[in-house]
Amino acid sequence: KKLSEFKNEPFTNFSTNENKQAMEHALAKVSKELGREIPLYIGSEKISTDEKIISINPGNIDQIIGKVSKGTSKIVDSAMNVALEAFESWKQVPAAERADYLVRAAALLRERKHEFSSLLVLETGKNWAEADADTAEAIDFFEFYAREMIRLSETSILRPLTKIEGENNQMTYIPLGVGVIISPFNFPLAIMAGTTVAAIVSGNTVILKPADTAPVIAAKFVELMKEVGLPDGVLNYVPGDGIEVGEYLVEHPKTRFISFTGSRAVGCRIYERASKVQPGQIWLKRVIAEMGGKDGVVVDETADIDAAAKAIVASAFGYQGQKCSAGSRAIIVESVYDQVVEKVTSLVSQLEVGAPAENYPVGPVIDQKSFDKVMSYIEIGKSEGRLLNGGNKTDGNGYYIQPTVFADVDPKARIMQEEIFGPVLALAKAKDWQEAIAIYNDTDYGLTGAYFSSSEERISFALDHMHCGNLYINKKCTGALVGAQPFGGFNMSGTDSKAGGYDYLLLFTQGKLTSRVS
Ligand code: NAD
Ligand code: ALA
Repeated sequence: KKLSEFKNEPFTNFSTNENKQAMEHALAKVSKELGREIPLYIGSEKISTDEKIISINPGNIDQIIGKVSKGTSKIVDSAMNVALEAFESWKQVPAAERADYLVRAAALLRERKHEFSSLLVLETGKNWAEADADTAEAIDFFEFYAREMIRLSETSILRPLTKIEGENNQMTYIPLGVGVIISPFNFPLAIMAGTTVAAIVSGNTVILKPADTAPVIAAKFVELMKEVGLPDGVLNYVPGDGIEVGEYLVEHPKTRFISFTGSRAVGCRIYERASKVQPGQIWLKRVIAEMGGKDGVVVDETADIDAAAKAIVASAFGYQGQKCSAGSRAIIVESVYDQVVEKVTSLVSQLEVGAPAENYPVGPVIDQKSFDKVMSYIEIGKSEGRLLNGGNKTDGNGYYIQPTVFADVDPKARIMQEEIFGPVLALAKAKDWQEAIAIYNDTDYGLTGAYFSSSEERISFALDHMHCGNLYINKKCTGALVGAQPFGGFNMSGTDSKAGGYDYLLLFTQGKLTSRVS
């Protein structure tokens, strides 16, 4: 049966009583189920290990979300064997059948939307809207990649070949082999599941190593895929330490590709390690590495100042600034600088910090390590700029930090150049719009950016000259929508892939040309 045209999953409006109650009900249900022991899922087996990852609620650190078995190199070897064996049959499954697993999983996820979102709230400290957007994006990835795989399998549509008299030339896109999916904590459902199903629907089998701060939501996704009957061995779940499991998988000679999303430091390390050909390895590993950002919002004197200030605040503090797309800096033209700064400060002072389960706008950062890192950047910021908001931790049984704003920061300052990944915003002044764009571009990264202006001429210049993978005009720089705004960045932000885009699945396939005399 032909699939309907792809449409983005709508976000839930929590201001209606019905939706609010549904979310409260889901939170209560999920809270009762917390703390269970979660095994590794390898082929048809569930493997429990003595050593566990204890996943906790960052907003209420005494609450245990789950006790997750921890992989070892020996377990990785057996997962690799299972995945290699499963690949032999999975690669023969027709594309439409593979796509069907994703469509059915999307339907179940849609039915249980608030349940998945509740787990995101509790395990990773997202407020309701952020969690709902994460779940909606996961549904979108399932639906979008299912359709994309079908389109890709109809190769003549994708790449019509030059006709040669007397020949039948065909291109098909065949899968690569066993892939390793290494995912970050911050979109623990959307990115974890999206990168996994993209690889699977393309005909590969995978070993999934989720972030150690978000392994329970990943297990819930794996269980969902089992429920829709995904054959054993196609998706193997091996959480564990970054080095012991992640790096071991990266270096494994049977690993065919690595799909990594995470920090610049880890991404660069993976890129390097994966490039070494190991004994017994008969291919060069493909590495997709989507990494950090130092994204920013540029505002000129012709802009709608209210809209710009709102977008600066939303871009900087959504999910506590823990988005690769977070606008952690804003560059504002001198003549409207004071006006914008005042509005930003006023909006930030209204942001309340508190428990994600109670749906406060700003919640905790993910763990102690992140808390310490963000607090140390706040100290650096105190010597690099004028502190306008925040600057301290806040009360609560978790990793809560006040939304913090520094003004008058030099473009070369560390808080203008380094990814902080927390609720910290740096504001810089530019003499004119050209200088503002030059300051925006002065970064190693190139993930997202926004330009606020009402001048067509300047917007046209910005479209050409602001160097980033996702550039937004007169809107915030976070919240890319699958299919509409394929997502991924330049330079140290990654390997230029576009998640949720029309060429993404090609990264998980290799083109095979056949030519025969007809
Ligand atoms: P991280 O790099 O600390 O961890 C990501 C994953 O890598 C985790 O599963 C971790 O266990 C694993 N890992 C750690 N060391 C490893 C090693 N040596 N070998 C193999 N795997 C290893 O990132 P994080 O803190 O979970 O996520 C935040 C980062 O991710 C930020 O920098 C953010 O900008 C980036 N990010 C980028 C995108 C994007 O699309 N560009 C999207 C989301 C997050
Ligand atoms: N895709 C996410 C966003 O655009 C990271 O905010």
